[in-house]
Amino acid sequence: MERAAAELFRPLGLLTLTDDGAGVQSKADHARAIANGLSLVLECNGERAGFAMGEPRDLDVYLQEIDVHPDFQRRGLGAILLNAFIEVVRARGAASVILSTFRHVPWNAPFYAKHGFAELPQTDYRPWMRAIEQEQAKMLDLSTRLFMRRTL
Ligand SMILES: CC(C)(COP(=O)(O)OP(=O)(O)OC[C@H]1O[C@@H](n2cnc3c(N)ncnc32)[C@H](O)[C@@H]1OP(=O)(O)O)[C@@H](O)C(=O)NCCC(=O)NCCS
Repeated sequence: MERAAAELFRPLGLLTLTDDGAGVQSKADHARAIANGLSLVLECNGERAGFAMGEPRDLDVYLQEIDVHPDFQRRGLGAILLNAFIEVVRARGAASVILSTFRHVPWNAPFYAKHGFAELPQTDYRPWMRAIEQEQAKMLDLSTRLFMRRTL
């Protein structure tokens, strides 16, 4: 599902996932998110339509990945999934949801801004965010990226 959803990026040349599974969240990442109670699967008419997963970081939760399968995109399901994830995080008493995304892609930063996320100034980046950036720098142009936060 993650690879299928990422096809949206292909024409932009910003991100291409290979068919061998490289670049997608690993089974271990999913297992950790499930164990942490931060793995949501969205079903639509009995079919799996999307997922969101995260991990606790200090007092916050990092939204590691959110995807809606292309067959289900642009029907408001991404918004439902995002809001469900936020409610799960709120229920755990975390301070905020933080994510990393593309600045100028319509379904990334502008989509999150529509749902209450604001850009995090670089001066507020924590060490774990810098570590994520270091990993991203291996396959992405960091000037296209930003961290966003929704305070709860
Ligand atoms: C981000 C994502 C989960 C949103 O899922 P969705 O079910 O399409 O979300 P919604 O229908 O609630 O809202 C999508 C909004 O994104 C924007 N958007 C999505 N696709 C777009 C496109 N092709 N062109 C322009 N805007 C687009 C629009 O604002 C749209 O709202 P609208 O349909 O009311 O105009 C989905 O686009 C996806 O899986 N993308 C690929 C993976 C990805 O980018 N994940 C997030 C990484 S940080």
